[in-house]
Amino acid sequence: MKTKHWLALGLVFILLVGILAGCGGQGDSLDAGEENELEENGEEELGLLEEGLLKVAFNADFPPFEMRDENDELCGFDYDLMNALGQVMGYDVHFDDVPFDGIFAGLGTAYDLVISGVTINDERLQTMDFSDPYFDAGQVIVVRKGYEEIKGEEDLPGKKLGVQIGTTGHDVLSDMEEIAADDILVYDNYPLAFIDLVNGGSDAVICDVPVAKTEAKRNDKVELVSEEPFTVEFYGIAVPKGNSKMVEELNAALAQVKEAGIYDELLVKWFVDYEGEL
Ligand code: ARG
Repeated sequence: MKTKHWLALGLVFILLVGILAGCGGQGDSLDAGEENELEENGEEELGLLEEGLLKVAFNADFPPFEMRDENDELCGFDYDLMNALGQVMGYDVHFDDVPFDGIFAGLGTAYDLVISGVTINDERLQTMDFSDPYFDAGQVIVVRKGYEEIKGEEDLPGKKLGVQIGTTGHDVLSDMEEIAADDILVYDNYPLAFIDLVNGGSDAVICDVPVAKTEAKRNDKVELVSEEPFTVEFYGIAVPKGNSKMVEELNAALAQVKEAGIYDELLVKWFVDYEGEL
C-alpha cells in the first residue's frame, strides 16, 4: 500500500510536470500577453462562463461521490476526479452544491458542467451531452437488516419504496406499471431516504450500487438485497448540448488521469479505504 502510494504520488508529479511543460502554465516560454491570448482563445472555444474557471455543480449528498466531511468541506470521488481533470485541462475548478432535482436547469447558464454521479441516458441526451462514461453503477435494493419480504425487483410492487427525487432510481420505479405512485416515497437526497428506511417509514430504498454499499458500510441497520444491480447505468459528466470541444477536452483529460494511475488511486481511496464514516 505504502509503495503504491509513493508510486501514485510520483505519477501525479510527472503528470504535473507534464502539464506545466505542456501548456507553459507558469509562462516560462510565453510572455504574459501571449499567455493571456492563448487562454482567451481556449475559453472562447470551451465557452466557459467565467474566465479561467470550470464551474461545476453537484448535489453533495451522495457518498462516496460527493458529500461534506466532518469540517463541512466538500469531498468525494467526483470531487477529486473533477479537480484532477481541471488540473490537466489547466483550469481552476469551482463547485456549487445544488439540489439534484432541477440540477440540469443550470447547465450552461449557472455552471459549465455537472458531475454528480449522473447516469447517461437517452432522455438526458436529448438536452445535454456527456463525457465518456467514467463509472459503472446500476440500481440495487436496500432494506432493513433481516427484512425478508423483498428478495428482488419482482417483490417491489405493494411495498413503500424510497428514492431521491429526479434520479434514475426514481424513473425506474415510476416506469414500473405494477408500482402505485403512492408507494414511491420521494426524498430530497439519499441520506434522508436511509434515515426513513431505518425508522420504518419505507420498506426499501432503491439507489445506485456504490452509494448503497457505502451506506451499508457505515450503517449496520441496513443491507443490500443483492449487490447485483437490476439496471445497467454508466456515469458521465454532463456538458451543455453542442459543446463538443468541452466533451473532447474532458475525454482527453479523463484518459490522461487514467493513464497516470490517478483514477485507480481514487477508486482505492473512496471505495476500499473509505469506511463511509461521514
Ligand atoms: N445515477 C443517478 C442519476 O443519474 C443518481 C444520481 C444522484 N446524484 C447525486 N449526487 N445525488 O439519476
